[in-house]
Amino acid sequence: MTLTTGHTILSLNDVSVTYPDGDRTVAALDHVHFSAHAGELTAVVGESGSGKSTLLSVAAGLSVPDTGAVDVHGSTGMVFQSANLLPALTVREQLLVTDRIRGTRITRDRRRHADSLLTRVGLEGFGDRRIHQLSGGQRQRVNIARALTGDPSLLLADEPTSALDHALSHRIVELLRDLTTERGLASVLVTHDRSLLDHADHVVEMRDGQLVS
Ligand SMILES: Nc1ncnc2c1ncn2[C@@H]1O[C@H](COP(=O)(O)OP(=O)(O)OP(=O)(O)O)[C@@H](O)[C@H]1O
Ligand SMILES: [Mg+2]
Repeated sequence: MTLTTGHTILSLNDVSVTYPDGDRTVAALDHVHFSAHAGELTAVVGESGSGKSTLLSVAAGLSVPDTGAVDVHGSTGMVFQSANLLPALTVREQLLVTDRIRGTRITRDRRRHADSLLTRVGLEGFGDRRIHQLSGGQRQRVNIARALTGDPSLLLADEPTSALDHALSHRIVELLRDLTTERGLASVLVTHDRSLLDHADHVVEMRDGQLVS
């Protein structure tokens, strides 16, 4: 799929999500309007509990909003805070397992595709290793490669660098930045680390379930 930069890939229109909290409800998202565009990296910042993960979870279709509309053009890849990799599998198999879940046959072409994604994230020659043989930064690179296996148009990353030191965090976000441009991804990055915001095209802030900028 070729998309012009700027094309709207994700839109949330007046989306609210509430959770029960004793005899009251808490609004994790409170009438939110948000969009993400091809070739652009949008960073989402905000205090703990302000609704950032809820925003991504609604965008990914993992939570259904109480009200409002969510539209996604194309498929979605997700990068989680901890890499959520499977210890019994090799690095290459971490990528191929998503094919198996989708019911795609694992052909030699799919193996080659997995290896080319690993090369792209800086892990050439690591395909046969197991997860415990990788550093934290390398695990996050596997996580990113895995999110790309379905050729997504939307890439959602929830604090992907929170377990990494400063220099490594910048390298991971630079990789996300470059992939966003190269592949025309609409990327949304949730982060606590304000020093990473220079890599983003847009920064939005959440406060009490609302977008304030
Ligand atoms: N499954 C749930 N049940 C009840 N309340 C929830 C649930 N998930 C989130 N919440 C509440 O919704 C609000 C927003 O949570 P969310 O996880 O989106 O915050 P966050 O900005 O991602 O925080 P953090 O920076 O700590 O990850 C919080 O008040 C939280 O307690
Ligand atoms: Mg969160």
